[in-house]
Formats: sequence, structure tokens, C-alpha cells
Amino acid sequence: MSAPSSAASSTNDRVIIFDTTLRDGEQCPGASMTFEEKLEVAELLDTMGVDVIEAGFPIASVGDFESVAEIARRTKRAVIAGLARAIPADIARAGEAVKHARRPRIHTFVSTSPIHLEYQMRKTQDQVIDIITATVAQARNLVEDVEWSAMDATRTPIDYLAQCVMTAINAGATTINLPDTVGYATPSEYEAMFRQVRERVLDRVSNPESIVFSTHCHNDLGLAVANSLAGVAGGARQIECTINGLGERAGNAALEEIVMAINVRRDVLPYDTGIDASMLTRGSKLVSAVTSFPVQYNKAIVGRNAFAHESGIHQDGMLKNNTTYEIMTPESVGVNKTSLVMGKHSGRAAFRDKLKALGYELGENALNDAFTRFKDLADRKKIVYDEDIEALVDHEIAVAHDRMKLVSLTVIAGSHGPQRATMKMEVDGVIVTEEAEGNGPVDAVFNCIQAIVPHAARLALYQVHAVTEGTDAQAEVSVRLEDGDKAVTGRGSDPDTLVASAQAYIIALNKLQAKRNSLNAQSQSAAE
Ligand code: KIV
Ligand code: ZN
Repeated sequence: MSAPSSAASSTNDRVIIFDTTLRDGEQCPGASMTFEEKLEVAELLDTMGVDVIEAGFPIASVGDFESVAEIARRTKRAVIAGLARAIPADIARAGEAVKHARRPRIHTFVSTSPIHLEYQMRKTQDQVIDIITATVAQARNLVEDVEWSAMDATRTPIDYLAQCVMTAINAGATTINLPDTVGYATPSEYEAMFRQVRERVLDRVSNPESIVFSTHCHNDLGLAVANSLAGVAGGARQIECTINGLGERAGNAALEEIVMAINVRRDVLPYDTGIDASMLTRGSKLVSAVTSFPVQYNKAIVGRNAFAHESGIHQDGMLKNNTTYEIMTPESVGVNKTSLVMGKHSGRAAFRDKLKALGYELGENALNDAFTRFKDLADRKKIVYDEDIEALVDHEIAVAHDRMKLVSLTVIAGSHGPQRATMKMEVDGVIVTEEAEGNGPVDAVFNCIQAIVPHAARLALYQVHAVTEGTDAQAEVSVRLEDGDKAVTGRGSDPDTLVASAQAYIIALNKLQAKRNSLNAQSQSAAE
């Protein structure tokens, strides 16, 4: 098998970074991304130095299949993995999706724990062994690089787990992933599991050096990063993680935390990754922008407060020497301190420089649109802070490929209702105008959108916060829409809360339509 070249050419201490933002991350309710957004995230992951990109779950929908296939075609460096259940049709579809990758991988999984076998799979242990043999062999006939995962490994008896692993290796898997699917393990247990399985299995394998063990930890108890590092102490050399820790329920191990824990504490974590840490902030912002999932302020490494020093004692120490209260520099994770003050007299060149300093690289059209919005913002706001520019550019990224856009909005509000909104929207290139009343201004705005684009989605969350301080601060609004089992989130920002609300709603609606189109295409192709 061909392991990622960066890993193959390194010493034992090289840890392979397997990013699953586009698969486990995207599985998280409300965090769906469009086709173009997935391509953008994949390109950034590849540039950042991620070794393996799990690009999606090709059988899940036509949209998933197409994005995995396109990422496979475009990616220059990383291995591209497609996920497949232990079902022949899934494996065939994953093989088809990744076949154009320079370095394709099929990642197939089956549950191994008694709870999953009894209640979910309704299979015996022996039946699961047969399934592993057949499905791993099928995957291995399609690609050279096959990863096998024991779902719910941490609640599986060790002897049976080792038997499953042995079976997968004999059938041709070269990466063995032992996930803590439900986020239940503690670090010492997780480390021991790897030691025990490796001890039981590797002696019986003819080429033990070609087998890579992998961690995959969920964060239900807040232990995902600690568990992943413990897994490495137990012999794993691949870590599965996501940007911002996005993922099912409480999420997965956060890539940025893993990378910086290793970089900062190499004295006790003597490993290397191939990640360019100066791109971590950029990656976090991009994923937050395209999923509309805010990053918590005090999030390690990439949170807004990660390098803020508020108390007098801390500020005093920082002024004397920054190592007093900083264990890593902001620059090491891509936060650039810049003194460039932006206002209405700033020109295009200064704006472009500022974007670069903030870690954004926009194409010419996106730059022009962002600059126009910046000028508009600078007219309305005395000082434009870095956070304002970030919110503005994130918005440009989110709407770049949207079918529906807000053109203008006027709202009559106040103590004497009913409140009334007049809105112009562009829908597939056509300008549509509507008026609506509501029980409050936000309701009137959302009723206008409903009149222009009739839909059955339910508003599941509406949240507002200020991007910076002051009464002229931009409002950042998050809107979550749910339609049946589909959930999406949109985020908008503007000094006017109602405009930001309309933007957020329309972004969410665009995402919902994109999801629906992809599912319709899937049922059509199934019918053909
Ligand atoms: O959490 C899990 O077990 C998974 C598998 C599909 C690898 O995501
Ligand atoms: Zn998972």
C-alpha cells in the first residue's frame, strides 16, 4: 500500500493528519456546505499540509458523490478518502468517487461493539467477521489504499476487537482506525486499547511496519484531543480530526488543537505533523464562514480571545515579556498583528493588504465585491475593525455562489404596529419586490422572504450578537432553518440588525435549496 508520501518518508514519529471536516464535520446538524464551499475547504486543507482529506460519504447523495469526485480530481497532494459502510453498493460508489484522485483511499467501517451488534446491526460476531472479510477485500480490489474502522471500538471487548482488526488486515486494510464513536473513553483507557490491540495483532502480521493505527475521537466528554494524543502514545500514527472540532454531536478532535499541542509540547509529545500552523486561523475562519458555525470566543488556538489579555496583571506581564502569559505566539497560528487602521479613505491596495494580513486570499471579483461593501460600511461606521472586515469577507464567501440574494430592504418599525417590510431580492438573476407585515420587524422581514420564496422550512434558531463594541457595531445574526430531517445555518452581518437578519435567512434558504436539489438529483438517478 502507498501510505501518504509525507508519512512514508518520515521517521516513526511522524503523525498523519487525517481531516474529516468535509465528512464527519459536515454530518453535524446545520453545518452543511455547498459544492463550491467544499472545494474551497479541500483546497485549503491540501495547501495547509493535511495528509488525508476525507472528502465525503459518496453514497449519501449525488451532491456528496460529485463533491468527492471533484475534490479527487483537483487535489494535488493529499490522499483523498471516501467513506463507505460495509455494504457492497457503498464501497463501489466510494471507489467510483475517488478513482480520479492521485492517491485514492476507500475508508470502510462496521460496528463491532455488542450494543451496536445487538440493537443496530442485528448481527452475530461471526457474521460481522464475514462482512469485514468480504467488504475490505472488495475495497482492496478497487484501490490499493484501504482504511478499515471498527465503529464503537472503545465499547468492544478487546479480544473480539483484535480478531476484527486481524481480519481486516488479512483482507487487505493497511490503516486501522479504532474510533471512540460515542466519546466515552478516558485517555488512559484509549491508550491501553491501542497497546493491547497492537500487541495482539502485529506479531501475527508479516509486514507490521506497513500497518498504520488511527485515532478518531468524539468530544462528548470534552476529551477528544486528550484521547487522540493518548492514542498516539499507545502506538497510533494517524489522527482523525476536524477544523474547529466540527462533527457529530459535541464534535470531533480539533485539528488546530492537536497540531499546536504537538508543536508547543514537543518535549513530551515527540512527534511531527506536516501542517503549516500559520494557516490554522485561516482554516478556522473559512470553515466557520461556510458552515455559519461561530467559533466560541474562548476556543483554544483559534477563538477570538485565545490571545487576548484583559487583566492588569497579565497585561503588565505581557508588556515586560510576552512569554509571561503566552505559550505560543499569535503569529505561529496565523494571527497577524497589524496596525493598519481602516476607514473610508482607505484605498483598494490597503484593503487588499489588510485582507492578506488577516489571512484571506480572494479572487478579483470577490475582492471587488468585498471592497464595495467595505466602502459602504466605512461610510456608516467611524472605525472599521479587523473583526468588521472578517465578518464582511465571510459574508462574501458565503454568498459567492448563491441563487438568491438580498438587494435592498426597508422596514417601518416602532411602538405602533403592525411593522412592515419592503424587500427586493434577486432570484436566479430576476429582481423581485415584495411587502409584508409582521408581529415585529424581524417577523415582517422573514414574511417578505416567505412571500418571495414560498417554503415550508421552520425557523429553529435566531441569534444576534455584536461583532465589535459601540452602538454602531455590526450585528452578526445566525439563523437555523429546519425542513424535515434537513437542518442548515446561515449567518449575516451588517450594521443594521434587520439587514443582517435577512441576509442570514437567505443564506440558510440557499443552503436548504442546494441540499434539496442534490437529494432530488439522487432520487432521479436512482429511478433511471
Ligand atoms: O465516529 C465514528 O465511528 C465514525 C466512523 C464512521 C469512522 O465517524
Ligand atoms: Zn466520527
